[in-house]
Amino acid sequence: MLVQRNVYAKSVLNGLMLAGAKAVFLEPQVDESSGLATAPSTETVAAALTAYPEAKGVLVTMPNYYGMGTDLAPLAEACHRHDVPLLVDEAHGAHYEQHPRLPRSALASGADVVVNRRTRCWPRSPWEPCCTSRSGEPRTAPPAARHGAKLEPIPTR
Ligand SMILES: Cc1ncc(COP(=O)(O)O)c(C=O)c1O
Repeated sequence: MLVQRNVYAKSVLNGLMLAGAKAVFLEPQVDESSGLATAPSTETVAAALTAYPEAKGVLVTMPNYYGMGTDLAPLAEACHRHDVPLLVDEAHGAHYEQHPRLPRSALASGADVVVNRRTRCWPRSPWEPCCTSRSGEPRTAPPAARHGAKLEPIPTR
């Protein structure tokens, strides 16, 4: 897996270990005015896909913890040119689908698998991590299902 270096360590790194996956870490871009990291550039992702043709996918976090992001569409296009999926940790962007003036969501930008966390962004949301893939219905993570959380599909624009 090609993985943005500053991912949410607990979830992503443990997931990689549980899956027995090898990771190649990609350098994020750094926003000049704040010094904060955002996702890797398209050039970084494209170069990594060329250098590691055996990669099974690319995983980035968008937006970052501070709500800052970049356009994911070129990243999705680069991934698809190499025939690999773009996976997005959208934990802090679950609200993006909810209003046209918000940034374009990962799914609407062409990402293939997106995980988001409504409790981070929606008021009065149940404890409900949500994983959506391009090909299927949204699915809650098992703990949410065990707690009886109600899941409503998020309409895409
Ligand atoms: C960017 C990001 N990804 C993933 C997670 C993990 O979410 P969870 O607590 O549902 O495992 C968090 C939690 O804060 C996060 O900030």
